[in-house]
Amino acid sequence: MNRPIQRVGVVGAGVIGASWTTLFLAAGLEVDVFDPADDAEKSVRDYIERAWPAMETLGRAAQGNPDALRFHTSAGDAVADMAFIQESVPERLPVKRAIYAEIEPRLAPDAIVATSTSGLMLSELQEGWTDPSRLLLAHPFNPPHLIPLVELYANDRTAAGILETAETFYDSLGKVTIRLQREVPGHVANRLQAALWREAIHLAVTGVASVGDIDKAISAGPGIRWAAMGPSTLFSLAAGEGGIRAFCDRFRESFHRWWPDLGTPQITEDVVQKLADGIAEEWQGNSITEIEDKRDALILDILKAVEKHR
Ligand SMILES: NC(=O)c1ccc[n+]([C@@H]2O[C@H](COP(=O)([O-])OP(=O)(O)OC[C@H]3O[C@@H](n4cnc5c(N)ncnc54)[C@H](O)[C@@H]3O)[C@@H](O)[C@H]2O)c1
Repeated sequence: MNRPIQRVGVVGAGVIGASWTTLFLAAGLEVDVFDPADDAEKSVRDYIERAWPAMETLGRAAQGNPDALRFHTSAGDAVADMAFIQESVPERLPVKRAIYAEIEPRLAPDAIVATSTSGLMLSELQEGWTDPSRLLLAHPFNPPHLIPLVELYANDRTAAGILETAETFYDSLGKVTIRLQREVPGHVANRLQAALWREAIHLAVTGVASVGDIDKAISAGPGIRWAAMGPSTLFSLAAGEGGIRAFCDRFRESFHRWWPDLGTPQITEDVVQKLADGIAEEWQGNSITEIEDKRDALILDILKAVEKHR
């Protein structure tokens, strides 16, 4: 039987670690943070202050205390005695392995260490451990205090029950977890994004539509449906009572004609320039902060609507 998780260690508190910290605090947990950056404490506290109103709007901060956090000057002190640790250090294998070597001797025997890695594989990360049985992969979607998805993966070197405990923990925070059944670079959601963005770039560089219009083709079209349901379920509703079989019968040939025609661009300097020009044209006069504010307000409203139907 695992200890109840009342305190969480956060190792690495940049974009993702600061957002995790907000989520944990809002849920009423205490958080112990280690990040070696000079301004880490200030930037995390600023992040929490900016993000807290959204947690309140979502009704997720009733138990929370934004000040229930401690900053440590060593990673070992931030993880000692913790039942759960969320690791969000930079996405570089040597950095991850070094931090695991540093924290492993200080972990409680029942500690769970969840790595936020976006694209490294659990098997590579396990090489940084003497005993990797406490490590699992728990990849969030930015920002984790708002976007529900967490992708989980454990393998045969992970101790029994860790995956289930992590799943229960994230569920209790209002997250939506999925399980990977085998490891693959980029996990599931990033591969799906990569496939879509690859084609968006191909359409832009081959002059099919502007960068702004291609973005709208998602946000004003399938993107709205995808916040409700995934593509296979949606297609199962697109051919009447016959469900997915009828859909495949009807549209198989279309997909088989489109798939070989999809592009495989590289992110060259010309492509970057094309994207930058397209975004500047679409959002002229708006600063990054203004676009971010608009995104966050929309995400909040979408989340409120989605949660009503969960
Ligand atoms: N940015 C995203 O959209 C996103 C989404 C999901 C998952 N992730 C994953 O989260 C992890 C962190 O990414 P990020 O975008 O927050 O990066 P980031 O660069 O914003 O933050 C990393 C933080 O780790 C700190 N750090 C560096 N060395 C450290 C050490 N030895 N111990 C503790 N902290 C250390 C840095 O000071 C920095 O604050 C990566 O594995 C990344 O793949 C990122």
